[in-house]
Amino acid sequence: MNHLLSVDDLSVGDIEHLMTLTGSFAEVLRRSVPKVPALRGKTVVLAFFEDSTRTRSSFDLAARRLSADVVTFATGASSLSKGESIRDTVETITAMGVDGIVVRHPHPGIPAAIERYTPAAVVNAGDGRHQHPTQSLLDLYTLQTTIGSIEGKRILLCGDIMNSRVARSNVAMFTKMGAEVIICGPHSLLPPHRPNQMFGHPVEIVKDIDAVIGSVDVAYMLRIQNERIADAALPSIREYRATYGLTAERARRMASHAVVMHPGPINRGVEIDADVADSERSLITAQVGAGVGVRMAVLYQLLGPGKFDTGGEAAGEQPAAADRFDDERLSDPGGVGPWSTGEQGSPGSPGKSVDTVDADASTIDLNLIEPQATAPGPVQENAQ
Ligand code: NCD
Repeated sequence: MNHLLSVDDLSVGDIEHLMTLTGSFAEVLRRSVPKVPALRGKTVVLAFFEDSTRTRSSFDLAARRLSADVVTFATGASSLSKGESIRDTVETITAMGVDGIVVRHPHPGIPAAIERYTPAAVVNAGDGRHQHPTQSLLDLYTLQTTIGSIEGKRILLCGDIMNSRVARSNVAMFTKMGAEVIICGPHSLLPPHRPNQMFGHPVEIVKDIDAVIGSVDVAYMLRIQNERIADAALPSIREYRATYGLTAERARRMASHAVVMHPGPINRGVEIDADVADSERSLITAQVGAGVGVRMAVLYQLLGPGKFDTGGEAAGEQPAAADRFDDERLSDPGGVGPWSTGEQGSPGSPGKSVDTVDADASTIDLNLIEPQATAPGPVQENAQ
């Protein structure tokens, strides 16, 4: 596998390997000069067709910390605003000689469709309501480094499940890694699903957050994705907070060891109270912090020499931790490093069922897609 498009494509071995790599890069990031030559000579393009603060800066920093050259373009500031199709844009970028393209787009499946028109490695940085695999990797890393293994842990995902790519990615990630996932949200914001299943993965679905808040290890709160909701899915934000929000009162009823997460941007006083977001339970800042190391691991795995595979004969001979990144070999990468371990997700794997069909890249004709036309309507910031 030469791209990162979906959590469903990753085996448990792939994920564990990326977690190990992330740990090593986290060590690099703590150094006084937090930079290694691993991707020197490589070029990474950040193609963001949708607004982003933390994800774009995090990929940007990650690529620079690996010594790659970075080119960034956003829809408004490129020929895309002159009506050029995504296919033409991708082929133009490719002709300049790039090694990796990091794509964010409001339409599900665009990163997978782009992959057909470029030999560069494609990383999905969020495609509509479909997937956000690096968010899931950084969430897993954050959990593993704070509460330890998530196997057997109870993780509540609460909020706008239907429109959230973070929910889709994390249901796959958390169930794959052995956690018990509990889903809670207003009926109007749950996608069609089978009993005890969400996005094809086994979960517990509850109507009442108060019935579970005292028994979960993690409360993962999701923003209402106003930009993807065509009509009023909720009667009122005040009522939403009262019924589904992580209020200070609810947070007090959580187990003493339990933690709170959110992918950001947060809407304080809607899905989470300000005091809870800023409390000691909150891992929100740690999540952002983990992003750079995780994205370094992903870029290194896809674009780097791929010498540090897990499971292989040479595994025991690997240089320890961060020292390996000083190795001169890394500044002279020998080619693209594919994911190294385990079975890959197949088209019949659970995550591909039910409502992920809207991300079927084979039906997308990039010749016809003018990014301006696919962009969603105006974003309602912080609905009151
Ligand atoms: C999320 C996103 O854009 O998917 N944010 C992020 O990448 N950290 C979640 C959101 O917008 O609610």
